[in-house]
Amino acid sequence: MNGKFVTLEGCEGVGKSTQLRFLREYLETEGIPAVFTREPGGTPLAERIRELLLDDSLTISAEAEAELFATQRRDHIDNFILPALDAGKLVVCDRYIDSSLAYQGFGRGLGLERVLALNEYAVKTCMPMLTVFIDMDPTVSFRRRKGKIIEHDRIETESKEFHLNCYRGYKEIERLYPARFKAVVPEEDKRMTHLKIVAALKSGGAI
Ligand code: TYD
Repeated sequence: MNGKFVTLEGCEGVGKSTQLRFLREYLETEGIPAVFTREPGGTPLAERIRELLLDDSLTISAEAEAELFATQRRDHIDNFILPALDAGKLVVCDRYIDSSLAYQGFGRGLGLERVLALNEYAVKTCMPMLTVFIDMDPTVSFRRRKGKIIEHDRIETESKEFHLNCYRGYKEIERLYPARFKAVVPEEDKRMTHLKIVAALKSGGAI
């Protein structure tokens, strides 16, 4: 495996998509060959599972939800991430196992151990060398988004308490995995946040 695997994490509405766009432009300008992917998704099967996971007309138990996330992840690992890493690429993934730990482990309350066990394959075969966490409390991002027209999916529409628990989960992950998991506090100026993310990728040896 010659490539490098990095992931981007954060609660809802913290500007992750904008930062991914800035990062893509930066890597292109620098001539660094990279592929971008996302979870849930990244392969045809995983994208189909994504539709189920985000469909707000469905009721899905916490365990089933965690298993579906783990299943789409396994397909994504085998059919996209590992082949790209073998080809020497830098793989940038929008959400990965830490989303399961934060959302299913803490948001849904399944606990870290249970979610780690469900994700044993990812833990053993494909962990990111670096995870950048956009560290913004969801109560702040929810306030910022008030009044904007935004489409809501099954997980986004969960209670404030749920999203706050996800955030607490991320802070616990930061405490448990300080070498891999790097928090970046976003700035008012999105370009400044971008520079902080680039600095984190450089100091983590990803670029
Ligand atoms: P998405 O629209 O991609 O959200 P965002 O733009 O905020 O990244 O939807 C993905 C949703 O799925 C998001 O609410 C987080 C959630 N999620 C989990 O609960 N567990 C997971 O393992 C992953 C990858 C995502």
